[in-house]
Amino acid sequence: MAKPSTVFVCTSCGSQTRQFFGRCSGCGSWNTLVEQKAAPAADNRRRRPVVEAAEAAGQPRRSEPIQAVGERALQRLSSGYGELDRVLGGGLVPGSLVLVGGDPGIGKSTLLLQSACSMAGRASVLYVSAEESAQQVKLRWRRLAQSSVGDPAGDPGAGADFQLLAETDLELVLQELEALRPAVAIIDSIQALHDAELGSAPGSVAQVRDCAAALARIAKRQDTALLLVGHVTKEGALAGPKVLEHLVDAVLTFEGDRFASHRLLRAVKNRFGATHELGVFEMRDRGLAEVTNPSELFLGGDEPSAGTATIVACEGTRPLVVELQALVSTTSYASPRRSATGIAANRLHQILAVLEKHLGLPLSRFDCYLAVAGGLEVEEPAADLGVAAAVVASYRDLTLPPGTVLVGELGLGGQLRPVGQLELRLQEAARLGFTRAVVPKGSGLAKAAAGLGLQLLEAGGVAEALVAALGVNPADDRA
Ligand SMILES: Nc1ncnc2c1ncn2[C@@H]1O[C@H](COP(=O)(O)OP(=O)(O)OP(=O)(O)O)[C@@H](O)[C@H]1O
Ligand SMILES: [Mg+2]
Repeated sequence: MAKPSTVFVCTSCGSQTRQFFGRCSGCGSWNTLVEQKAAPAADNRRRRPVVEAAEAAGQPRRSEPIQAVGERALQRLSSGYGELDRVLGGGLVPGSLVLVGGDPGIGKSTLLLQSACSMAGRASVLYVSAEESAQQVKLRWRRLAQSSVGDPAGDPGAGADFQLLAETDLELVLQELEALRPAVAIIDSIQALHDAELGSAPGSVAQVRDCAAALARIAKRQDTALLLVGHVTKEGALAGPKVLEHLVDAVLTFEGDRFASHRLLRAVKNRFGATHELGVFEMRDRGLAEVTNPSELFLGGDEPSAGTATIVACEGTRPLVVELQALVSTTSYASPRRSATGIAANRLHQILAVLEKHLGLPLSRFDCYLAVAGGLEVEEPAADLGVAAAVVASYRDLTLPPGTVLVGELGLGGQLRPVGQLELRLQEAARLGFTRAVVPKGSGLAKAAAGLGLQLLEAGGVAEALVAALGVNPADDRA
């Protein structure tokens, strides 16, 4: 049998060689050659039968006016998890490719296996396990299926069955996909699949690209929704340097703190829904359970203490009430220590500088530690006012009146800037029993807040906002 031929193509200039070199002879770039299947010599001629068949059937492929293009109602399939559906934009779209990435051991296989159990009752599902043996998957299935919480599938013996294939060879996986034509196929993981025609090792860029492209073709042809598990590389990139992100329709990342049980699912890219939606899960011993009320996860819950402030952050369209804690203490170092967990350190530095300048607080002589409760990462500037309030409260050893939330972005001049989706944030705060909200001036929401049972305190600057929140003037040394 003739040896299948592959070529090495430079990802930078596109030149081809038969042999691997560290450096491209075309453009001189280093490490840019990737292996690819050589295109068949008769490639041009192979297209003819397709064209001929279409012409014989009287339907030559032509472009048509967009208004004349027929529409099909989009039938989304629920994954069984409301949280996963929300991140997908309302459920799985037939024929779409979804890449689910995350750190090792975060729970990718658990999430998809539980979804497979749930979907099995409503659609045909194929679960391809390329990383674990059928026995290992069965063990996990048994453990997850026993649970009453977090198990969307219910009783495993209740007829909801799906097909399991433990295989790493791409050809065999494609064959099974063609034979079964499932509505949903799960591939765990794309890095473990390999195409025997390529000489490179499984997981290499050439293999991942080739396997994903072959799966994508078949998924689009058969209207199979494909869920691919992808590994995150050491640099944090999903399945190699952006190889898969462009190919797939949606990229979801599954993340979480190693020391906390909650897991966050985010959409990084979604062709069928909004990105930056957030799904929250909790890892329990019997699998992943949805957290439908995540604000409670990120609230301290106890009596308020000095140095804590509560903010309402927005993740996509989802408001989250989150507690911030600050500790300000006299420094014993030449340059004071600043440490921020869950908030960018630069933001903390900027807020400290604004407080020092506009409130005259000598914070440069104090260490400052800031932490977001529950291990959440808050990126948006709407948290600024909450950070400032927590820092000032810790510095003055004050406790914010219970039931207060703070929302607002701090400008360098000490002014409070308006934030987006304020009404949504206020609704969430009111729902959780908060009674006072300090917000930037000019929100125009006084009436709406009153309707929600919230006292709205509007402020134009940071000093004014802190006086309103704390009830005393923090710039006054007698406070
Ligand atoms: N018997 C068990 N009891 C409780 N929790 C378990 C049990 N087995 C696994 N887990 C939890 O499930 C997690 C592993 O989940 P899973 O195998 O789905 O992760 P993964 O993201 O697919 O990992 P990998 O990248 O290695 O494939 C573990 O980190 C642990 O938290
Ligand atoms: Mg896994």
